[in-house]
Amino acid sequence: MSDQLTCPLCAQSVAMTLIPHLRSEHKIEPEVFRARFPEQALCSAEFASFLKEQNVRRQDGVLHYQLDVAGCPMTARYGVDHPLIPEPDPTFVWTEPARDVAEAVEHNERVFLYGPSGTGKSALVREIAAMVKRPVRRVSLNGETSVADFIGHWAVNGNKETVFVKGILPQAMLEGYILQMDEVDAMQPEVGFILQQILEPHGHLLLTDTGEDITPHADFRLVATANTLGFGSDSGLYASGTHVLNFSWLDRWDVVVNIDYLPAGREVELLHARHPSVKKDLLKCIVKAAGDLRRAQANEELTTVLTTRRLLALCARLERGNEFPQALQVCVLNKVPPEDRKVIGETFEHHVGPLGQKLTP
Ligand SMILES: Nc1ncnc2c1ncn2[C@@H]1O[C@H](COP(=O)(O)OP(=O)(O)OP(=O)(O)O)[C@@H](O)[C@H]1O
Ligand SMILES: [Mg+2]
Repeated sequence: MSDQLTCPLCAQSVAMTLIPHLRSEHKIEPEVFRARFPEQALCSAEFASFLKEQNVRRQDGVLHYQLDVAGCPMTARYGVDHPLIPEPDPTFVWTEPARDVAEAVEHNERVFLYGPSGTGKSALVREIAAMVKRPVRRVSLNGETSVADFIGHWAVNGNKETVFVKGILPQAMLEGYILQMDEVDAMQPEVGFILQQILEPHGHLLLTDTGEDITPHADFRLVATANTLGFGSDSGLYASGTHVLNFSWLDRWDVVVNIDYLPAGREVELLHARHPSVKKDLLKCIVKAAGDLRRAQANEELTTVLTTRRLLALCARLERGNEFPQALQVCVLNKVPPEDRKVIGETFEHHVGPLGQKLTP
């Protein structure tokens, strides 16, 4: 089956579809062309079957098509450009829980991601958005984010008029962004009460300052991330600043997904993809040490946990030719409380040993 078409106006051979060619070369819209050449196909048979298979359709001037994201069929947008659409990360490692998150984003379920620090919760939301080309607005709800930041505040504009400037939440609702709220287990209770209204399906937001009723855009999505599920922190690692979330508040989230550290093999894959010049044997040993240290933290033998973020920072230093002990010192040991330093140093020495020379201080 040929993928080429011949333009009846200029005899030029064109691949897949005549439409862009007609518009740019002949300034003709497809409808006008169709009336003049009713027998001439606008697309090659191959391209037409691709459009059908991928369920490609135009909506509000944007091409939508079906895309498999982590095993979930999603609607992706083609050729849209927006500063809040993330760039895809070719090194991203997809794991099982990603499917549930993708499904929640596709079907407008309120989704709450929880898990230890640096397990890729934020990266996952970003990556799904990058695949389907949705803008993401990220906000950290740590105690510092006030109701005024979130909802809006009164300000004086250039004409000396007092106007209400909408905050992060109404903006995201009106523009149809994914609103990714990080650290919700540390948010101020007032912010939690405001969120309560919009956690309902199609929940509106009433701006009490102006009386405006904000209806969510069909593309608005709400994602929360936190280190604890809001029952407070068991380990004490996340205790500072985290609050026990109200049951009825938590109950309003449609889907709760736990994101844990990558399985060892997948974590090696990630480190290798990001830092290919670090030897794979060394990466395997580093990941083994991280696994032991994470188990030790779970058993309360350590107060800190070794995140994927730390391992990436360590590998970046190694890739630049730094010696292992010095890289470990600045990327890991200097960050942890003195009582953890010895165990971490010894664990790395045990696993990395001859590959990394002497590691304990
Ligand atoms: N599955 C993955 N694929 C690619 N990179 C990953 C993955 N998981 C984690 N990372 C990388 O690890 C680092 C930490 O990830 P991220 O910031 O998403 O963690 P987090 O779970 O949101 O952490 P926190 O709870 O501290 O906010 C980032 O550099 C991210 O790119
Ligand atoms: Mg995060």
